[in-house]
Amino acid sequence: MTAILILNGPNLNLLGIRQPEVYGTTTLADIEAECQTKARQLNVTLDFRQSNHEGVLIDWIHDARQAFDGIIINAGAYTHTSIAIMDAIASVSVPTLELHLSNIHEREDFRRVSYIGNVAFDLIMGHGAKGYPMALERIVTHLAQT
Ligand code: DQA
Repeated sequence: MTAILILNGPNLNLLGIRQPEVYGTTTLADIEAECQTKARQLNVTLDFRQSNHEGVLIDWIHDARQAFDGIIINAGAYTHTSIAIMDAIASVSVPTLELHLSNIHEREDFRRVSYIGNVAFDLIMGHGAKGYPMALERIVTHLAQT
């Protein structure tokens, strides 16, 4: 069965209370529950994780080499800073989709730069919490085509 890993970076554990005017009021636990429902509909297995630590995210990306067919990553602010996460994704050759709740192209200039974008096959952003199940559909379609 196709196995998908969803990774969430720093501060996303605070979804629901964190800047709701930007990120909405849905919690990460609610998003995970919705993703697990979507995963069952799509007949894939899903592992959903969050860390505030760059090295932990990198270790999880390395683990994906053996255990997962695709990665969806919302790297939070590491999107804009982490060459190390970009390199980890490039190193494992697991198809990776970049995801953001907000539209990073319509915010501050520093959010326009995405290192993850250099190694991801696609980008979903600006759909809030609904972007997560959308991303699952997108990656499953992508994997079926490759
Ligand atoms: C984010 C956008 C990033 O710029 C920000 O640092 C986040 C969340 C998003 O989902 O919109 O932490 O990745």
